[in-house]
Amino acid sequence: MDFRVTPTKLRDATVAVPGDKSISHRAVMLGSIAEGRTAVRGFLAGADCLATVAAMRAMGVTVAQPSATEMSIEGVGLRGLEAPPGDLDLGNSGTAMRLMAGLLAGQAFDTVLTGDASLSGRPMGRVIAPLTRMGAVIESDCDGTPPLQIRGGMRLHGIHYDLPVASAQVKSAVLLAGLYADGKTSVSEPAVTRDHTERMLRTMGVPVTATGARRIGLQGGQALTGCAIDVPGDLSSATFIILGTLLSQDADILIKKVGVNPTRTGVIDILKGMGADLRLENPRRLGDEPVADIRVKASRLQGGPVDPALVSLAIDEFPALFVAAAAASGETTFSGLAELRVKESDRIAAMADGLRRLGIDVEETPDGAVVRGGRFSGGEVDSFHDHRVAMSLAMAGTIADDMVTIRGIDNVQTSFPGFTECVAAMGADVQVV
Ligand code: S3P
Repeated sequence: MDFRVTPTKLRDATVAVPGDKSISHRAVMLGSIAEGRTAVRGFLAGADCLATVAAMRAMGVTVAQPSATEMSIEGVGLRGLEAPPGDLDLGNSGTAMRLMAGLLAGQAFDTVLTGDASLSGRPMGRVIAPLTRMGAVIESDCDGTPPLQIRGGMRLHGIHYDLPVASAQVKSAVLLAGLYADGKTSVSEPAVTRDHTERMLRTMGVPVTATGARRIGLQGGQALTGCAIDVPGDLSSATFIILGTLLSQDADILIKKVGVNPTRTGVIDILKGMGADLRLENPRRLGDEPVADIRVKASRLQGGPVDPALVSLAIDEFPALFVAAAAASGETTFSGLAELRVKESDRIAAMADGLRRLGIDVEETPDGAVVRGGRFSGGEVDSFHDHRVAMSLAMAGTIADDMVTIRGIDNVQTSFPGFTECVAAMGADVQVV
């Protein structure tokens, strides 16, 4: 399927975006190994998180779905998972595979984790290395890619691990394996990454320590207690709405109840630095996560160097930020983005390709790009089957000189079901063809 975007003038609107993907995955995984029921509201019923639900059901967990965005998980306790009847297919989801590798490394039974073509090319050595040090036995393809064969019945022991790359997925995998390990497990991160795992574990009764120099630890063998989880809107999805609004002539949009966990808000800081008129209204808490309504208005953006210190706090937002840079005046320099090359696609290459096809001058570097602001022509671009590339280029299409077609947008449903309806509410004409 493709997106066909007809440039239109956006209008003022109040919108909501689907639930946070990272928190939804964690709610299902932690709820499954907790004792008692975990009732989740605002769940992201996108393909990625539904793959996590299917995997947990295959391991004997009862997960009911009382409504489109609610999940009710009957926790089976730390040792209650059962051997699945076959491979666990995690689709497009790196989060599901890496976190699940940690969760399954200490089980009594064998598991095999598989994924789609994109996931099958993504690096898993980064979780295999620390888990192996903990005593796990995990085999991958020779280049460290899926499928992963995880041997059951291994006794894990706690370790300290210095993460070589800033990755919340790797941090979480080690901490989840740590629940099954003897003694204490801890990690040190080279830069702050999203802390949803730590917050949710604490809410479920597991003390997680956070000490200086980004060092996070927990003691093995502790029981989790099921709880109610209210999932905020996903700031990563809200970013596409923010982007469309900033680029528009004069739209004024309110996005309700968006997660603004400080480990995720790099995109807000970067856009504000470019001159975005963005405000957080009505800040409050939803369970263990901070949320706010985001007010955004059309803005004249100005390019410049983007602070690499903000990269890990905005890791999923760079496709959208590349489009913002392309619409800004002057030159924007991105660096420190090597991790983008191993996301759902090589996002530096994918965005450089898409923007060039729309007439923008982009110079790719090994760990970033230099984007020179200009006008978007119409044309045809490829999403490289990457949801965030597809939605970013769709927003560019709203202000292009002519129609923009984005090829291969099927994976948008992994993170943002209802994307076209949501942007239609603000006047954007994005059709699925
Ligand atoms: C995620 C962590 C990030 C992010 C991904 C979700 C998570 O990945 O890109 O979309 O939920 O932990 P890395 O840990 O690989 O940076």
